[in-house]
Amino acid sequence: MVDVGIFVGSVYGNAQHVAEQVEEMIAEKGHSVELFIDGTLDNFKQTKSVLFISSTTGQGDVPPNLEFLIMDMKDTMPLMDQKPFAVVGLGDSSYSDSFCGAGKQIFEVLLELQGQPVADLFIVDAIETLEPELEVVPWVESLLPKLTA
Ligand SMILES: Cc1cc2nc3c(=O)[nH]c(=O)nc-3n(C[C@H](O)[C@H](O)[C@H](O)COP(=O)(O)O)c2cc1C
Repeated sequence: MVDVGIFVGSVYGNAQHVAEQVEEMIAEKGHSVELFIDGTLDNFKQTKSVLFISSTTGQGDVPPNLEFLIMDMKDTMPLMDQKPFAVVGLGDSSYSDSFCGAGKQIFEVLLELQGQPVADLFIVDAIETLEPELEVVPWVESLLPKLTA
């Protein structure tokens, strides 16, 4: 079982690039980590903690590559028994009503599944931040003790 499973939702590659940088940092710190681009329920169940890094597409929607996993989670409700989790939402605040809708949705699902949030949803606004990895990597690093406790 890996220490941290990173589940990515990305349309154009921004969130995936951030997730790859986070994966590298976690591995350098000596933890086992796996990045899932097309994650499944089995992957989700087989990690000690989960980190979701997802952009938002459409009008507040989860990107297609992550959509099936989130649907499966909602349908089958695999309870997490206080498994630690964190969520990073990449979005664009010009989509005012649906800003970071995917990240918010994912955070809610993980709460419903009785996961243990190690921090509030971390929001990255594309209008303010050109290099999201510069914010996200240190943020995840600060949470690693809780994610890997
Ligand atoms: C067609 C389209 C729809 C989008 N819809 C939303 C949205 O509803 N809410 C939001 O916060 N951002 C929205 N965005 C902004 C993206 O989430 C943001 O640009 C993100 O950095 C893209 O990351 P990705 O390359 O990993 O998909 C949208 C972008 C596009 C191109």
